[in-house]
Order: sequence, then structure tokens, then C-alpha cells
Amino acid sequence: MWPYPKIVAHRGGGTIAPENTVAGLRAGLAYGFRAVEFDVMLSRDGIGMVIHDPEFGRTVAGLGAVARTLARDLAAMDAGSWHSAPFKGEPVPYYTQFIAYCRQHGIWMNVEIKPSDGVEAATGAWVAQVTRDAYAQEIAAGQVARVPLLSSFSHAALAAARDAAPEVPRAWLLDRLPPDWQAPARALQAVAIHTNHRHLTQALAATVKAAGFGLFCYTVNDPDRARELLSWGVDGLCTDRIDLIGPTFT
Ligand code: G3P
Ligand code: MG
Repeated sequence: MWPYPKIVAHRGGGTIAPENTVAGLRAGLAYGFRAVEFDVMLSRDGIGMVIHDPEFGRTVAGLGAVARTLARDLAAMDAGSWHSAPFKGEPVPYYTQFIAYCRQHGIWMNVEIKPSDGVEAATGAWVAQVTRDAYAQEIAAGQVARVPLLSSFSHAALAAARDAAPEVPRAWLLDRLPPDWQAPARALQAVAIHTNHRHLTQALAATVKAAGFGLFCYTVNDPDRARELLSWGVDGLCTDRIDLIGPTFT
């Protein structure tokens, strides 16, 4: 039900390095992580870029939006200075660069499809197709633990991913589980539910597991809370505190 690593570095390398950068992946590796969550959004020219916010101003300076900017211009932006001086000039990565780095270092990927408004289906389909093509060998060989897991808060993005490349597994991201979460999750043929640990109870966790889904929590930064969640049967979690909750955490 959850063949993937239990502890996953959030947005690349958590708080140790600028989020959603190759420097983040490098930081995760330095802490022994071989599992990562990050966010993918389409540029104006329809290319998947690793970035969280649809608008500029937080991790990249200035005014503007990812969906209105060409990929090559995004790739030239500084996504590191906001974090700290040593990361000045760290670029906004192409999704394909993240794939290459993760393949090279044996890092499992939880790819969060983070569509800008209005391009949910296009984003889901693009990410699913590119992921399927990159992992065609693993998919054909049935190496399920090596194939990335796509996740999204957007049901439309996941539905498009399912239609474009059904062989790449999907997880539905929900801040809070509504009472009727099961039917939409089944319609997506989702293998897992990803949810905000703050709203999860032991009873809800048991319901998800009993329904046959994997259960993953974001974003858990307190080791005591992580231990509690795992004791409830939560299969995996991502953390910003890769220094406190390491890959072998129990
Ligand atoms: O995928 C889990 C988590 O990353 C979802 O929230 O805003 O950090 O992308 P966010
Ligand atoms: Mg995310």
C-alpha cells in the first residue's frame, strides 16, 4: 500500500536550503535523504518548473507570475537569495533537471502538481506524461517503489494525469478530509491520501487505512508528533526539519 520511503524531505531540502532548488536536493542528500517532495507549475510556454508560488515576490523577487513567464526566463531567476547569501543565484529548476538529479542519486520523488488557476488539466497531463516517459523502464519492470508518486490538491489536475498516463500513480492531497472523500479518491484511482497532519485524528487515520489507501502527512516538523502519527499507522510524512526528523526516524 505504501512501497515508498517513510520520511520525505519537503520542498527539496526543507528549511536547510532554499525550497524547490537543486541546492535543496543536495542538502537532503547530505542528511541521508533519498526521498523528496516538491512542486511543479507550468511556465507560459507550457514547461514544468519547480516552484511553489504562482506569483513572484517570495522565493523570487519582483512582480509577475509563473504562468505569464517563459521557462528560460524563470530558469534565469534567483530563487536562492531569499533564503541566505550562500545560495544567491540558485536558479528555478526545470522539472526535467529534478528528474535527472533524482535518477542519478536514486532519490524517490513525490511530485506535487501545483497548477496555476485555469491550467489544472494541462499541468496534470504534462507532469504525468513527462514522468511516464522518464520512468518508462521502471514502470515496465513493475518496480513500483522507484516510480514517482504524483499528488495534487487539484482534482482536475489529477484526473488529467490519470487520463494522460494512468500508469503513473496518484495521491489526492487534502488539507482536511471531507466526509465524502472516498468516492472522488476512487474516481482518481488514487493509491494514497496526503493530508495536513494538523487535522488528522487517529480515527480518521484508521478509516483511510481500512479503505485500502496509503496515508501520508504534510508537513511534520515536531519529532513527537511524527512519532504519534506513525503509531497511528500513517505510512509516510514530509518534513521541513530534515535535521530533526531524518530518513531513519522511528
Ligand atoms: O505535498 C505536501 C505539501 O507540500 C502541500 O503543501 O503548500 O507545502 O505545497 P505545500
Ligand atoms: Mg508541496
